[in-house]
Amino acid sequence: MPRFPGTPFRDDLFEGQVALVTGGATGMGRSIAHAFAAHGADVHILSRNEEHLADAAASIEKETGRKVAWHRCDVREPDQVEAAFAKLPRLDHLVNSAAGNFVVPFETMSRNAWSTVVNIVLNGTFNATRAAFPLLSRQGGTVTNMVATYAWGAAPYVSHSGAAKAGVLNLTRSLAVEWAQFGIRLNAVAPGPVKSEGATKNLFADPALQQKIEDSVPLRRFGTPEEMALAVLYLASPAASYVTGDCLTIDGGQWLSNGLFS
Ligand code: HXC
Repeated sequence: MPRFPGTPFRDDLFEGQVALVTGGATGMGRSIAHAFAAHGADVHILSRNEEHLADAAASIEKETGRKVAWHRCDVREPDQVEAAFAKLPRLDHLVNSAAGNFVVPFETMSRNAWSTVVNIVLNGTFNATRAAFPLLSRQGGTVTNMVATYAWGAAPYVSHSGAAKAGVLNLTRSLAVEWAQFGIRLNAVAPGPVKSEGATKNLFADPALQQKIEDSVPLRRFGTPEEMALAVLYLASPAASYVTGDCLTIDGGQWLSNGLFS
């Protein structure tokens, strides 16, 4: 079997463990699901779209030789989330990667546009994390939340996403403290620009904008879904056993680069 691109980890790192990835059928979530499977975990993926789920599961199974279970589920719907988690035999690692986003000036944003993104990102993270607790607390485990570097800065024209990601980051820290007693570690990953299908289509389809973004990154390129997935694996692994409530920024230095002379 081909190794996961760029991995420094043992292939059996998560042998005997179960990982669930929301938004795991496409983009970054799919890469995270693939990475867990490639390192021995039994993987479950959640998405709204059955076709995407079946396609992702089949291709991850082909690449890793491991079975991937999928559940059609809208993370905004608590009943659907509870039903999906009820099917799990155990759970060691939850990754909240489901997201929705589009560029819209705040003054023209409809109520429904605001609540759609906040419901997916913030309430979806609540729903999945709440449903995961009974399973995770049995033997301990990890929750990793995908945020964005604008979670602690400003998110002009994606203010719904910025507000929601800021909420998720704060929730990550609150629960890191509350759930330490159960052996559950919670961390966040803040990717910089990554050309996932969703982000490219909804945020930076224009090639001129892509160039501008590249120029704003000290490492002068977009990140890859695989680079984000490896960060998630690190946080879920025993190598990060004393890391909780933290946010790992993986953005080629972009958020630091607005200096007067840079
Ligand atoms: C303005 C918009 C809009 C747009 C949707 N809406 N797209 N408003 N501009 N481009 C409004 C709709 O008009 C509607 O409000 C409301 O939002 C809900 O839209 P629906 O299409 O009915 O919602 P739904 O079918 O649930 O779809 C959700 C979605 C979807 C978020 C809109 O497009 C989606 O899931 N997108 C792909 C996910 C994605 O982009 N993932 C990557 C995220 S990357 P009204 O008032 O008309 O009813 C990320 C990190 C970025 O988040 C970091 C970058 C550095």
